[in-house]
Amino acid sequence: MNKKLTISAIKKQKGVKPVVVITAYDALFAKLFEESADMILVGDSLNMSFAGKNDTISATLDQMIYHTNAVCSGAKNSLIICDMPFGTYINKDEALRNSIEVFQKTSADAIKIEGGVDKAEIIQHLTSNGIAVCGHIGLLPQSVRSDGGYKVKGKTEAQKEQLIRDAKAVESAGAFCMVLEGTVAEVAKEIAKSVSIPIIGIGAGADVDGQVLVFSDMLGLFEEFTPKFVKKYLDGASLVREAVASYADEIQKREFPKEEHTY
Ligand code: KIV
Repeated sequence: MNKKLTISAIKKQKGVKPVVVITAYDALFAKLFEESADMILVGDSLNMSFAGKNDTISATLDQMIYHTNAVCSGAKNSLIICDMPFGTYINKDEALRNSIEVFQKTSADAIKIEGGVDKAEIIQHLTSNGIAVCGHIGLLPQSVRSDGGYKVKGKTEAQKEQLIRDAKAVESAGAFCMVLEGTVAEVAKEIAKSVSIPIIGIGAGADVDGQVLVFSDMLGLFEEFTPKFVKKYLDGASLVREAVASYADEIQKREFPKEEHTY
């Protein structure tokens, strides 16, 4: 069984070994992922692939705590990050109060918040109060409504410069790593070079310090839409459909249960 990685071990992976991150929302999958992943993220993407909503905006702190507890139960040897949902870190005090609630009610090792320069003061307040923070810059799913959709970042010089400022601000505020989402690969490469903490990419190309994918996307279970950056490592939805269809068929034909399934 793998030993649980520490925050400082993750930081030291920069330039040495890519950081492997995957999301999980329950104990069952978390347990399956922990052998291969360096960290497990309980992402607010659960609002879409678990709760069936259109975006992440309506995820609540109670929901995140519930799912984080489930993941912590399933993956006791993993470094676990709880995503702070929309509206729970609007200022320093709220952010600290809500992060403390996550830390007291779960055994999460860190929290994640979206934003760069604009959230640096909040990140600084959390890290100086014993809360490990994973940043999240680039495409920010919690800003999807104000941005008018999921828009790739780093397409202009101004955006590139802002992203580098964001990455540096998040690092200076004490974050131990940060997610960089939906960003032009060349720009992502420069961002990764501009800071000394790991940049975990999702739709940010190969020249960053690690990768994260939403598990239901990479296992082919989420069928609503598939972003360009997702590689499907399994056709999960077809396999599940086929299995359940066989189950139904065997029940109809009275082929299940058989002798060996009977007391
Ligand atoms: O909510 C989530 O799953 C995330 C990933 C997309 C990084 O934030």
